[in-house]
Amino acid sequence: MGRMTTQVLEAINKQIAAEFAASFSYLAMASWCEHHKFMGAGRWLRQQSAEEHGHALKLFDFVLARNHPVRLSGIDEPKSEFGSVVEVFERALAQEQEVSKQIDGLYELAFREKVFAAMAELQWFITEQVEEEKTVREIVAKCHMVKDDSAALLDLDRELGGRGPATEGAAK
Ligand SMILES: [Fe+2]
Ligand SMILES: [Fe+2]
Repeated sequence: MGRMTTQVLEAINKQIAAEFAASFSYLAMASWCEHHKFMGAGRWLRQQSAEEHGHALKLFDFVLARNHPVRLSGIDEPKSEFGSVVEVFERALAQEQEVSKQIDGLYELAFREKVFAAMAELQWFITEQVEEEKTVREIVAKCHMVKDDSAALLDLDRELGGRGPATEGAAK
């Protein structure tokens, strides 16, 4: 045992699609924010989109390293209409929580099928999800503190815009 199984391979291919979908979704959120002139939030979301793209490629590389081809699938149209910045980040949090569940399920499957290499690879993602949920949860909390104080909202937007460059291909 320990070799890749069809089930695990299929599940990883599905997760690659989910990471690309997350990337696409963050880009749609960036568009909404920038269109409404929350340029800092837009910058943050563009960088997050690039990170999700990086996650997809990490799994893409893993599948190839295990000597299997990657099967890419279509991506659903992301939600692009929002009522407010807080709604954008609440949506982002829900999305991250959903991805965490997917990763947990994938890890459980790899464990059951005794695909140890996949388990090792997925451990990085489990840790990453803890970090991402924490970060987005903090932004949501700050949005709630700001409420209807537009000066505070602009400060928060500026703070989000100060996010350091993503590990790969970030926007300006
Ligand atoms: Fe991700
Ligand atoms: Fe994420």
